[in-house]
This record gives sequence, C-alpha cells and structure tokens, in this order.
Amino acid sequence: MSWTIREAALDDAAAVIQFIKDMIAYHDMSQKYKGICLEEFIQDCFGTNPWVNCIVAGIKEDKSDNEEKKLIGFCTYYYTFNSKLGRGIYMNDLFVIPSERGKGIGLCLMKSVIKISVRKGCSYMNWDITDANKSAINFYERLGAKIDGKTSFMSLCGDALYKLIDDNN
Ligand SMILES: CC(C)(COP(=O)(O)OP(=O)(O)OC[C@H]1O[C@@H](n2cnc3c(N)ncnc32)[C@H](O)[C@@H]1OP(=O)(O)O)[C@@H](O)C(=O)NCCC(=O)NCCS
Repeated sequence: MSWTIREAALDDAAAVIQFIKDMIAYHDMSQKYKGICLEEFIQDCFGTNPWVNCIVAGIKEDKSDNEEKKLIGFCTYYYTFNSKLGRGIYMNDLFVIPSERGKGIGLCLMKSVIKISVRKGCSYMNWDITDANKSAINFYERLGAKIDGKTSFMSLCGDALYKLIDDNN
C-alpha cells in the first residue's frame, strides 16, 4: 500500500464531510455539533469565493498505481493575520482514519500545508485543541508545538454574535 497527499477536488467533498462527522463523534461532540453540510462545504471550499482550503490523503495499491482506492485523511486550513507576526496559517482540522494512524500520514498532511503556506509568506501556524485530546497534544508536542498558556481563545457564537448587531438592543 502507498498513499498520496493532494489538494481536495469537488469529488472528495462527500468523503470529507463523512470524516468531519467521524471526527465530531471521535471527540464525543455529537451532542454539541452536527458539522457543516455538504452544500456548505462545497460552497466554502470550491465556490467562487473560497473560505477554506482542504488537502486529502488517499491510499493506493502501490506506488505505480494511478487510482486511489479511498481517502484516508484530510486537513483543512485558511490564511490568517496577526499584526505582530504578519501572515500565518490556521489549521482547522487534521484527521486520519483510525486504521491508518501511526504511519506518518498526519505529519505528511501537516507538512504539505506548511509548504504551501510558507511559499505564500506565512511564518507561523495556529490551531486550537481541547484539553481532553491528550493523544493529539502528544502528537503536536513531539513536533515542537507548544500550548500558549497565556493566551485564551475567545468566541462569540450564534445568538451571542447576532445579538450584538441586533438593532433592538
Ligand atoms: C492526530 C492525528 C492526525 C495524527 O495522525 P497520524 O497519521 O496517526 O500521525 P503520524 O503517523 O503522522 O505521526 C507522526 C509522528 O508522531 C507520532 N505520533 C502519532 N500519534 C501520536 C500520539 N498520539 N502521541 C505521540 N506521538 C504520536 C508517530 O509515532 C510519529 O512519530 P515517528 O515519526 O517518530 O514515527 C491522528 O491521530 C488523528 O486523526 N486523531 C484524531 C483526530 C484528532 O484528534 N485530530 C487533531 C485535532 S486538533
């Protein structure tokens, strides 16, 4: 078996949506989130004004094989900006199916995103992670990533966000 990393194509959208559902279930967050739907993902990743980029990992029978058997992981990311540091990348999702973990695919997906982004002038990569996801924290710390204990991630979500611009308030 051999695998490839490439930019996602429209035909991959349904598989990526399934990965997102699997990831939500893996993190035991199904009560809180149902994930975006296929139409949203297609519009935001492949539409005329994309908001997110996606790369996928696919598995092949062997290196000479042109046909991928199936997708086995993905990574979504977008560009961000910090006035102290300039251009950066925000990694949104990183996921490899359980049976293919520990083979270097997660790292390879991350490296591909970093290569693309550094070419565009980015000098840092951020992402958020729940405290409970110890396994992924170990994975990232082994790569040299650090948890910035001084900065907290804040969020205005749904009604809390809309309320601020509600003219009746
Ligand atoms: C985190 C995740 C993407 C890692 O993908 P992966 O393909 O298994 O990782 P890799 O095989 O590329 O690992 C690269 C290196 O990290 C090591 N590693 C992998 N998972 C690790 C873990 N949980 N703890 C410590 N080291 C780990 C590997 O052994 C490998 O080391 P080596 O180069 O010395 O052999 C995968 O476990 C996953 O999909 N987890 C569920 C989703 C998730 O939590 N995503 C992150 C949300 S922010």
